[in-house]
Amino acid sequence: MLITIDGGDGSGKGKQIDFLRAWLANRQLDYVFLRDPGDTDLGEAVRDILLHRNDLAICPKTELALFMASRAQLVHEKIKPALENGQVVLVDRYLLSTVVYQGYAVGSTDEEIEWIWRMGKYLAGGIMPAITFVLDCPSQVAFERINRTKDRMESKGSDFHRRVAEGYRQAVSDWGKYGSGEVYLIDATLSPDEVFAEIRSVLEDRVAR
Ligand code: TYD
Repeated sequence: MLITIDGGDGSGKGKQIDFLRAWLANRQLDYVFLRDPGDTDLGEAVRDILLHRNDLAICPKTELALFMASRAQLVHEKIKPALENGQVVLVDRYLLSTVVYQGYAVGSTDEEIEWIWRMGKYLAGGIMPAITFVLDCPSQVAFERINRTKDRMESKGSDFHRRVAEGYRQAVSDWGKYGSGEVYLIDATLSPDEVFAEIRSVLEDRVAR
């Protein structure tokens, strides 16, 4: 079973991942944790280009293609084999991030959004999450939480990140059209424990002991 957790920068995703990993380990579930972009040799190289190479010019379509390429490799090398092995796979971000950051947040048309979903599914070999958790957090609240040097994506400015937050909500409300599996939009302004209580209540019913 593939589970993904997604949301804007500063939405508290890291903390929820820590909780989730502890919960999965506690239940002695055989699970793999991966991050997108990254977690393959190619993926880490692409991640470095996307997040840290401020010296490189990266046009929007190249940025989209690089995120997609990193994920295609991650699916091929790690996600598909783990799923075939019967493991639970927890991924930090997935195609929804591309749909939001490289789609909704840059003002893509409905047709372009549909294209990103379709191309993304194709490049991910049709492997889509059974459950997607989306941490919903207004960008002003989220940004106050980032108290370290911002990477290339985080430095795109407050307007961009406001559109990211709105993009997640729009993507969830359009889930019936393009999304796969179940999606849960969770209010990430609640305390970390309250947010995790919602995540746990979903997983308790779905993930076998
Ligand atoms: P993340 O690993 O969550 O960053 P951090 O560890 O710094 O919290 O995500 C990396 C950044 O890449 C984040 O700003 C979101 C962005 N991103 C996209 O723009 N498109 C994508 O398809 C993905 C997967 C991430």
